[in-house]
Amino acid sequence: MSESKRLAGEKAIEFVEDGMVVGVGTGSTVAYFIDALGRIRDRIAGAVSSSEQSTQQLRRLGIEILDLNATGPLPLYVDGADECDPRRCLIKGGGAALTREKIIAEASETFVCIIDPAKQVDVLGRFPLPVEVIPMARSLVGREILARTGGQPVWREGVVTDNGNLVLDVHNLRITDPVALERELNQIPGVVSVGLFARRPADVVIVGGQPPQILR
Ligand code: A5P
Repeated sequence: MSESKRLAGEKAIEFVEDGMVVGVGTGSTVAYFIDALGRIRDRIAGAVSSSEQSTQQLRRLGIEILDLNATGPLPLYVDGADECDPRRCLIKGGGAALTREKIIAEASETFVCIIDPAKQVDVLGRFPLPVEVIPMARSLVGREILARTGGQPVWREGVVTDNGNLVLDVHNLRITDPVALERELNQIPGVVSVGLFARRPADVVIVGGQPPQILR
């Protein structure tokens, strides 16, 4: 499994061009991409990072961390996912970094998603859908999600996001219309962001393997 992650992460380097500011996601697949980025660090202008975890790894490798407010739109964002459907819609947030990931995805011209083959599904939802919530709204949002979707929200106890919020993981969903569900859940007061990347899906998916497969 980690070999496919490595192959996907290293393949994504082909999308990096000289002088770019690169948007960098979070997770075990992205960690391989960051290692590869470290090897070409003199060719890039820096990185916008989606988490404290990725920031630490980038800094260790001598890559400058830049503020999205200062860089403006980014040419490229590379990130992993927890599930990916045939239309490149994703579930993300297994690492609780979904909100910053969504912001960077939105700011980027090209979103390259790097996954191992086990992440490919026909219908999203086997992986519990992460939803970041404002702490005081945790129960309210949980009840609303149950009423609106029939899914079972479970509080990821002990986890506080980089933004100081909580995460609910919604089980037992079969997401046949990811764009509609993303829109619906985004409307609940107290929801910060939903780990469905459907309105803005990945542009390119790299599935790790020998050779890696590129889906557009
Ligand atoms: C972080 O919140 C997630 O969105 C990650 O992108 C995802 O969990 C990555 O999975 P891997 O660790 O398997 O790459």
